[in-house]
Amino acid sequence: MSNSTVYDCTLLHLGKVQNPAGNLTIVEGSLQVPFDVQRVYYLYDVPGGEARGGHAHRRLHQLIVAASGSFDLIISDGRTRRTFHLARPYMGVYMPAGLWRELDNFSSGAICLVIASHLYDEADYIRDYQQFVSWKSAQ
Ligand code: TYD
Repeated sequence: MSNSTVYDCTLLHLGKVQNPAGNLTIVEGSLQVPFDVQRVYYLYDVPGGEARGGHAHRRLHQLIVAASGSFDLIISDGRTRRTFHLARPYMGVYMPAGLWRELDNFSSGAICLVIASHLYDEADYIRDYQQFVSWKSAQ
């Protein structure tokens, strides 16, 4: 959905199976997330002050979770920016395709878990913001 806007992103409460011995959160394709899960990856050991992201995807949908620690997810559709502060392993932001994202303000030990709709494909990335804005306005 390349005509997506920041308002198509949703903060999802994924739920929690609580137990005195520890909590558990579940993400299943087409249930907690509106796509079939094809790939999971996670960012960790991000040095203080570093930022990640800085790209958009043409067709990839994602769910982004702070599995540990916290960070900010800044999303842009070329017109509007929206920032989510993620700090709970049972909360996630669902992002449809066609949005620019940046990740920063990582706490020490943060883990950014990404649950994605497709396998890795470099051709799906737009890594230049001006190119993203042009692509978006051409949709
Ligand atoms: P990238 O998505 O640019 O990282 P971030 O958005 O977190 O800053 O990926 C960084 C590098 O890792 C890039 O060279 C591509 C590679 N990569 C894979 O090979 N497979 C993957 O699934 C991902 C997410 C990245």
